[in-house]
Amino acid sequence: MVGIRALKKIWMDGKLVDWASANVHVLTHGLHYGYSIFEGIRCHDTPRGPAIFRLPEHLARFVSSAKIYRMRLPYSGADMAKACVDVVRSNAVTAAYLRPIAFSGYGEMGLDPTKSPVQVAVGEWEWGAYLGAAGVEHGVRATVSSWVRMDSRSLPPQAKCAANYANSALAKMEAVVGGYDEAILLNSAGMVAEGPGENVFRVKNGIVSTPPASSGILRGITRDTVIQFLAHEGLPFQRTDFTREELFTADELFYTGTAAGITPIREVDGRPIGTGDYPIVRRLQQRYDDATHGRNPAYNSWLTYVE
Ligand SMILES: Cc1ncc(COP(=O)(O)O)c(C=O)c1O
Repeated sequence: MVGIRALKKIWMDGKLVDWASANVHVLTHGLHYGYSIFEGIRCHDTPRGPAIFRLPEHLARFVSSAKIYRMRLPYSGADMAKACVDVVRSNAVTAAYLRPIAFSGYGEMGLDPTKSPVQVAVGEWEWGAYLGAAGVEHGVRATVSSWVRMDSRSLPPQAKCAANYANSALAKMEAVVGGYDEAILLNSAGMVAEGPGENVFRVKNGIVSTPPASSGILRGITRDTVIQFLAHEGLPFQRTDFTREELFTADELFYTGTAAGITPIREVDGRPIGTGDYPIVRRLQQRYDDATHGRNPAYNSWLTYVE
Protein backbone atom coordinates (compact mmCIF):
# COMPACT_ATOMS: atom_id res chain seq x y z
CA MET A 1 0.00 0.00 0.00
CA VAL A 2 1.55 3.29 -1.08
CA GLY A 3 0.61 6.33 0.96
CA ILE A 4 1.12 10.01 0.35
CA ARG A 5 4.77 11.01 0.68
CA ALA A 6 5.00 13.94 3.06
CA LEU A 7 6.16 17.21 1.50
CA LYS A 8 7.36 20.21 3.50
CA LYS A 9 4.47 22.64 3.70
CA ILE A 10 0.70 23.01 3.55
CA TRP A 11 -1.05 26.38 3.43
CA MET A 12 -3.66 26.54 6.18
CA ASP A 13 -5.89 29.41 7.25
CA GLY A 14 -3.63 32.08 5.82
CA LYS A 15 -0.14 30.76 6.36
CA LEU A 16 2.29 28.03 5.39
CA VAL A 17 2.59 25.40 8.12
CA ASP A 18 4.69 22.27 8.41
CA TRP A 19 3.14 19.21 6.79
CA ALA A 20 2.76 17.40 10.13
CA SER A 21 1.06 20.40 11.77
CA ALA A 22 -1.76 20.77 9.22
CA ASN A 23 -4.33 19.14 11.51
CA VAL A 24 -7.99 19.59 12.45
CA HIS A 25 -10.01 18.51 15.48
CA VAL A 26 -12.01 15.26 15.19
CA LEU A 27 -15.20 17.25 15.86
CA THR A 28 -14.62 19.43 12.79
CA HIS A 29 -18.09 20.06 11.37
CA GLY A 30 -17.26 19.31 7.72
CA LEU A 31 -15.87 15.90 8.62
CA HIS A 32 -19.28 14.88 9.99
CA TYR A 33 -21.66 16.41 7.44
CA GLY A 34 -19.65 16.62 4.20
CA TYR A 35 -19.83 20.42 4.07
CA SER A 36 -16.58 20.97 2.25
CA ILE A 37 -15.76 22.23 -1.22
CA PHE A 38 -12.49 21.57 -2.96
CA GLU A 39 -10.45 21.63 -6.15
CA GLY A 40 -7.96 19.31 -7.80
CA ILE A 41 -5.26 21.09 -9.81
CA ARG A 42 -2.04 19.87 -11.36
CA CYS A 43 1.36 21.44 -11.54
CA HIS A 44 3.69 20.14 -14.24
CA ASP A 45 7.35 20.37 -15.04
CA THR A 46 8.10 22.74 -17.93
CA PRO A 47 11.29 24.18 -19.47
CA ARG A 48 10.63 27.30 -17.30
CA GLY A 49 10.15 25.34 -14.07
CA PRO A 50 6.90 24.20 -12.44
CA ALA A 51 3.68 25.59 -13.95
CA ILE A 52 0.14 25.26 -12.57
CA PHE A 53 -2.38 24.33 -15.25
CA ARG A 54 -5.47 26.56 -15.61
CA LEU A 55 -5.25 27.89 -12.07
CA PRO A 56 -7.73 30.80 -12.54
CA GLU A 57 -10.35 28.45 -13.99
CA HIS A 58 -9.98 26.04 -11.07
CA LEU A 59 -10.24 28.85 -8.54
CA ALA A 60 -13.28 30.31 -10.32
CA ARG A 61 -14.95 26.90 -9.94
CA PHE A 62 -13.91 26.85 -6.27
CA VAL A 63 -15.60 30.22 -5.72
CA SER A 64 -18.71 29.00 -7.58
CA SER A 65 -18.88 25.86 -5.45
CA ALA A 66 -18.72 28.03 -2.33
CA LYS A 67 -21.47 30.28 -3.67
CA ILE A 68 -23.79 27.35 -4.39
CA TYR A 69 -23.28 26.15 -0.81
CA ARG A 70 -23.63 29.61 0.82
CA MET A 71 -20.10 29.21 2.12
CA ARG A 72 -18.44 32.53 2.92
CA LEU A 73 -14.83 32.14 1.90
CA PRO A 74 -12.50 34.23 4.06
CA TYR A 75 -9.99 34.49 1.18
CA SER A 76 -10.35 35.94 -2.32
CA GLY A 77 -9.51 34.12 -5.54
CA ALA A 78 -6.28 36.18 -5.66
CA ASP A 79 -5.38 35.07 -2.10
CA MET A 80 -6.00 31.45 -3.09
CA ALA A 81 -3.89 31.80 -6.24
CA LYS A 82 -1.03 33.17 -4.16
CA ALA A 83 -1.48 30.33 -1.66
CA CYS A 84 -1.23 27.73 -4.45
CA VAL A 85 1.92 29.33 -5.85
CA ASP A 86 3.47 29.60 -2.37
CA VAL A 87 2.76 25.93 -1.67
CA VAL A 88 4.39 24.81 -4.92
CA ARG A 89 7.38 27.07 -4.33
CA SER A 90 7.90 25.99 -0.73
CA ASN A 91 7.67 22.28 -1.46
CA ALA A 92 10.13 22.50 -4.36
CA VAL A 93 8.58 19.63 -6.33
CA THR A 94 8.18 20.12 -10.05
CA ALA A 95 5.15 17.89 -10.73
CA ALA A 96 2.36 17.55 -8.19
CA TYR A 97 -1.34 17.70 -7.42
CA LEU A 98 -2.78 20.66 -5.51
CA ARG A 99 -5.84 20.44 -3.29
CA PRO A 100 -7.47 23.72 -2.24
CA ILE A 101 -10.23 22.91 0.24
CA ALA A 102 -12.68 24.97 2.32
CA PHE A 103 -14.80 23.37 5.01
CA SER A 104 -16.96 24.08 8.02
CA GLY A 105 -14.48 23.94 10.86
CA TYR A 106 -14.56 23.22 14.58
CA GLY A 107 -17.23 25.23 16.29
CA GLU A 108 -20.88 24.19 16.40
CA MET A 109 -22.39 20.82 15.60
CA GLY A 110 -25.79 20.38 13.95
CA LEU A 111 -26.94 20.68 10.39
CA ASP A 112 -26.57 24.42 9.83
CA PRO A 113 -22.96 24.73 8.71
CA THR A 114 -23.05 28.51 8.67
CA LYS A 115 -22.66 28.51 12.46
CA SER A 116 -19.14 27.07 12.21
CA PRO A 117 -16.08 28.99 11.04
CA VAL A 118 -14.90 28.28 7.49
CA GLN A 119 -11.38 26.88 7.36
CA VAL A 120 -9.32 26.88 4.17
CA ALA A 121 -6.23 24.92 3.18
CA VAL A 122 -4.12 24.11 0.14
CA GLY A 123 -2.35 20.76 0.26
CA GLU A 124 0.01 19.33 -2.30
CA TRP A 125 1.27 15.83 -2.99
CA GLU A 126 2.89 13.87 -5.77
CA TRP A 127 0.33 11.84 -7.68
CA GLY A 128 0.77 9.79 -10.84
CA ALA A 129 -2.00 9.24 -13.39
CA TYR A 130 -5.13 8.39 -11.34
CA LEU A 131 -6.09 5.39 -13.47
CA GLY A 132 -2.46 4.36 -13.86
CA ALA A 133 0.18 5.04 -16.49
CA ALA A 134 -0.75 1.70 -18.12
CA GLY A 135 -4.36 2.90 -18.31
CA VAL A 136 -3.33 6.08 -20.12
CA GLU A 137 -1.35 3.93 -22.57
CA HIS A 138 -3.53 0.85 -23.07
CA GLY A 139 -6.97 1.92 -21.84
CA VAL A 140 -9.00 0.92 -18.78
CA ARG A 141 -11.89 -1.47 -18.23
CA ALA A 142 -15.10 0.28 -17.19
CA THR A 143 -18.48 -0.83 -15.91
CA VAL A 144 -21.80 0.98 -15.91
CA SER A 145 -22.59 1.50 -12.24
CA SER A 146 -25.75 0.37 -10.52
CA TRP A 147 -25.47 3.65 -8.58
CA VAL A 148 -27.21 6.59 -10.23
CA ARG A 149 -25.32 9.92 -10.38
CA MET A 150 -26.96 12.19 -7.86
CA ASP A 151 -29.44 14.61 -9.28
CA SER A 152 -29.03 18.38 -9.07
CA ARG A 153 -32.32 18.52 -7.17
CA SER A 154 -30.61 16.67 -4.31
CA LEU A 155 -26.90 17.48 -4.58
CA PRO A 156 -25.68 19.92 -7.22
CA PRO A 157 -23.07 18.07 -9.31
CA GLN A 158 -21.59 21.35 -10.60
CA ALA A 159 -20.38 22.19 -7.09
CA LYS A 160 -17.27 20.22 -6.22
CA CYS A 161 -18.53 19.33 -2.75
CA ALA A 162 -17.14 16.46 -0.67
CA ALA A 163 -20.67 15.09 -0.21
CA ASN A 164 -20.84 14.24 -3.95
CA TYR A 165 -17.91 11.92 -3.52
CA ALA A 166 -19.88 9.54 -1.32
CA ASN A 167 -21.86 8.76 -4.49
CA SER A 168 -18.57 8.50 -6.42
CA ALA A 169 -17.04 6.20 -3.79
CA LEU A 170 -19.99 3.79 -3.95
CA ALA A 171 -19.59 3.56 -7.73
CA LYS A 172 -15.80 3.25 -7.55
CA MET A 173 -15.88 0.49 -4.92
CA GLU A 174 -18.53 -1.44 -6.85
CA ALA A 175 -16.36 -1.25 -9.99
CA VAL A 176 -13.21 -2.38 -8.21
CA VAL A 177 -14.93 -5.24 -6.37
CA GLY A 178 -16.36 -6.35 -9.73
CA GLY A 179 -12.86 -6.49 -11.22
CA TYR A 180 -13.06 -3.26 -13.27
CA ASP A 181 -10.83 -0.23 -13.18
CA GLU A 182 -13.49 2.46 -13.13
CA ALA A 183 -17.24 3.17 -13.20
CA ILE A 184 -19.48 5.13 -15.55
CA LEU A 185 -22.57 6.56 -13.85
CA LEU A 186 -25.90 7.12 -15.56
CA ASN A 187 -28.17 9.95 -14.45
CA SER A 188 -31.72 9.54 -13.18
CA ALA A 189 -33.00 9.71 -16.78
CA GLY A 190 -30.80 6.73 -17.71
CA MET A 191 -28.38 8.75 -19.83
CA VAL A 192 -24.60 8.71 -19.41
CA ALA A 193 -23.42 11.32 -16.88
CA GLU A 194 -19.76 10.88 -15.89
CA GLY A 195 -17.21 8.79 -14.05
CA PRO A 196 -16.75 9.03 -10.26
CA GLY A 197 -13.99 11.62 -10.81
CA GLU A 198 -13.87 12.07 -14.58
CA ASN A 199 -15.95 13.28 -17.51
CA VAL A 200 -16.69 10.88 -20.36
CA PHE A 201 -16.25 11.41 -24.12
CA ARG A 202 -17.41 9.24 -27.02
CA VAL A 203 -16.18 9.12 -30.64
CA LYS A 204 -18.46 7.73 -33.34
CA ASN A 205 -17.90 8.08 -37.10
CA GLY A 206 -15.38 10.87 -36.51
CA ILE A 207 -17.72 12.95 -34.32
CA VAL A 208 -16.68 13.52 -30.72
CA SER A 209 -19.37 14.03 -28.09
CA THR A 210 -19.72 14.48 -24.36
CA PRO A 211 -22.82 14.81 -22.17
CA PRO A 212 -23.99 18.41 -21.60
CA ALA A 213 -23.86 20.10 -18.18
CA SER A 214 -27.59 19.40 -17.85
CA SER A 215 -26.84 15.65 -17.70
CA GLY A 216 -25.71 16.22 -14.09
CA ILE A 217 -21.94 16.43 -14.30
CA LEU A 218 -19.10 18.43 -12.92
CA ARG A 219 -18.06 20.82 -15.71
CA GLY A 220 -14.54 19.51 -15.96
CA ILE A 221 -11.70 21.83 -16.79
CA THR A 222 -9.99 19.01 -18.67
CA ARG A 223 -13.31 18.53 -20.50
CA ASP A 224 -13.20 22.20 -21.50
CA THR A 225 -9.54 21.84 -22.48
CA VAL A 226 -10.38 18.88 -24.73
CA ILE A 227 -13.32 20.74 -26.28
CA GLN A 228 -10.91 23.56 -27.21
CA PHE A 229 -8.39 21.03 -28.58
CA LEU A 230 -11.11 19.50 -30.78
CA ALA A 231 -11.75 22.91 -32.36
CA HIS A 232 -8.02 23.36 -32.94
CA GLU A 233 -7.78 19.86 -34.46
CA GLY A 234 -10.76 20.64 -36.72
CA LEU A 235 -12.71 17.67 -35.34
CA PRO A 236 -16.53 17.81 -35.23
CA PHE A 237 -17.88 18.00 -31.69
CA GLN A 238 -21.30 17.88 -30.02
CA ARG A 239 -22.49 18.25 -26.45
CA THR A 240 -25.16 15.60 -26.43
CA ASP A 241 -26.72 12.97 -24.22
CA PHE A 242 -26.02 9.35 -25.03
CA THR A 243 -27.23 6.05 -23.69
CA ARG A 244 -25.50 3.01 -22.22
CA GLU A 245 -25.71 1.12 -25.54
CA GLU A 246 -24.06 4.03 -27.32
CA LEU A 247 -21.08 3.43 -25.05
CA PHE A 248 -20.84 -0.14 -26.33
CA THR A 249 -21.00 0.89 -30.00
CA ALA A 250 -18.49 3.76 -29.77
CA ASP A 251 -15.34 3.80 -31.93
CA GLU A 252 -13.41 5.35 -29.04
CA LEU A 253 -14.32 6.26 -25.47
CA PHE A 254 -12.26 8.18 -22.95
CA TYR A 255 -12.23 9.75 -19.52
CA THR A 256 -10.94 13.25 -18.87
CA GLY A 257 -9.96 14.77 -15.54
CA THR A 258 -7.18 16.57 -13.74
CA ALA A 259 -6.29 13.39 -11.86
CA ALA A 260 -6.90 10.94 -14.73
CA GLY A 261 -5.63 13.11 -17.60
CA ILE A 262 -6.98 11.71 -20.89
CA THR A 263 -7.44 7.96 -20.38
CA PRO A 264 -8.93 5.71 -23.05
CA ILE A 265 -11.62 3.17 -22.09
CA ARG A 266 -10.89 -0.12 -23.79
CA GLU A 267 -13.87 -2.11 -22.57
CA VAL A 268 -17.32 -1.47 -21.05
CA ASP A 269 -18.94 -4.39 -19.22
CA GLY A 270 -16.97 -6.93 -21.21
CA ARG A 271 -17.58 -5.36 -24.63
CA PRO A 272 -14.38 -4.22 -26.35
CA ILE A 273 -14.61 -0.63 -27.59
CA GLY A 274 -13.87 0.00 -31.27
CA THR A 275 -10.82 -1.68 -32.76
CA GLY A 276 -8.63 -1.12 -29.71
CA ASP A 277 -6.78 1.74 -31.45
CA TYR A 278 -7.33 5.26 -30.18
CA PRO A 279 -6.36 7.61 -33.03
CA ILE A 280 -8.31 10.63 -31.75
CA VAL A 281 -7.40 9.98 -28.10
CA ARG A 282 -3.72 9.88 -29.11
CA ARG A 283 -3.96 13.29 -30.82
CA LEU A 284 -5.66 14.79 -27.78
CA GLN A 285 -3.19 13.21 -25.36
CA GLN A 286 -0.29 14.66 -27.33
CA ARG A 287 -1.79 18.15 -27.26
CA TYR A 288 -2.57 17.85 -23.55
CA ASP A 289 0.93 16.70 -22.75
CA ASP A 290 2.45 19.55 -24.78
CA ALA A 291 0.08 22.16 -23.32
CA THR A 292 0.59 21.12 -19.69
CA HIS A 293 4.37 20.86 -20.07
CA GLY A 294 4.80 24.26 -21.74
CA ARG A 295 5.77 22.82 -25.12
CA ASN A 296 3.03 24.52 -27.16
CA PRO A 297 3.13 28.34 -27.02
CA ALA A 298 -0.49 28.48 -28.20
CA TYR A 299 -1.51 27.31 -24.70
CA ASN A 300 0.94 29.36 -22.66
CA SER A 301 -1.83 31.49 -21.20
CA TRP A 302 -3.09 28.38 -19.38
CA LEU A 303 0.09 28.15 -17.34
CA THR A 304 0.89 29.93 -14.08
CA TYR A 305 4.66 29.67 -13.75
CA VAL A 306 6.12 29.30 -10.29
CA GLU A 307 9.44 31.09 -10.52
C1 LIG B 1 -17.11 14.05 -10.58
C2 LIG B 1 -16.04 14.61 -11.44
N1 LIG B 1 -16.29 14.79 -12.75
C3 LIG B 1 -15.37 15.30 -13.58
C4 LIG B 1 -14.12 15.66 -13.12
C5 LIG B 1 -13.11 16.24 -14.06
O1 LIG B 1 -12.93 17.61 -13.76
P1 LIG B 1 -11.55 18.34 -14.06
O2 LIG B 1 -11.22 18.04 -15.48
O3 LIG B 1 -11.84 19.76 -13.81
O4 LIG B 1 -10.55 17.75 -13.13
C6 LIG B 1 -13.81 15.49 -11.77
C7 LIG B 1 -12.51 15.89 -11.22
O5 LIG B 1 -12.36 16.93 -10.65
C8 LIG B 1 -14.80 14.97 -10.91
O6 LIG B 1 -14.54 14.79 -9.61
